[in-house]
Amino acid sequence: MLTNLRVWLNHFEYHAEQPRGAPGGSLSGLRPEERRLIARSLATFQLGEHSDGTGLLRAAYRFATAHGDELLPRITELFIREEQRHARLLRQFMDEHGIRAKCYHWSDAVFRRVRRLAGFELYLHVLIAAELIGNVYYHALESVTGCHRLRVLCRTLIADELAHVGYESDLILELRARKPAALRALIRLLHRAFFCGAAYAVWISHRAVLRCAGHTAGGFMRACLEQYAFHLDPPAGWVAAAAESRRR
Ligand SMILES: [Fe+2]
Ligand SMILES: [Fe+2]
Repeated sequence: MLTNLRVWLNHFEYHAEQPRGAPGGSLSGLRPEERRLIARSLATFQLGEHSDGTGLLRAAYRFATAHGDELLPRITELFIREEQRHARLLRQFMDEHGIRAKCYHWSDAVFRRVRRLAGFELYLHVLIAAELIGNVYYHALESVTGCHRLRVLCRTLIADELAHVGYESDLILELRARKPAALRALIRLLHRAFFCGAAYAVWISHRAVLRCAGHTAGGFMRACLEQYAFHLDPPAGWVAAAAESRRR
């Protein structure tokens, strides 16, 4: 059984009852040139935030049944609801500023297809990659606009996503600690390769916004990899020590 599920259930239940404040304010803050710069990029991220979550929920139920983690489905439901709220907040901002929503983007389709391939653990790896990269993007988006409402929206999303990353990395590292060292190394290698590919895809699709925020391709990749290392590369020996303590 996973160790910290009760803590995470409390976290998600609290935020379901008291969601972080949705940004209000006038519509005039977004200048026309800012709108032109961000419109397509924002619509792509809005599409990525939007999901009915049925595949993830199904995977969580299967995992919970196999491992006796009965709190996991409820946590997953609340997690999905929080993501749907992000999609709604972004959509509301877009609608109010005449930014057209998207139904399809190739990067979103790739993420969705990879997620469908396997079980809950793979879902976690794909989700955390999207969220780590998303946080670097939302920081960049915040810095290219003077629109107070969009800046607050970016900070709201970052605050929620940081908690999601904390939750997912907690589970990923605990599950990884149960595996033999060679398998752990292989999974890390494959995940980092996937992460780098995903970060580069985001650079290609959103480079106008990212460049305006001061990123080069190399700088953006470095910023994403720093986030990855902070959350998913614990200090040397941590995973082995966690594995050892489970054996005792
Ligand atoms: Fe989100
Ligand atoms: Fe998230």
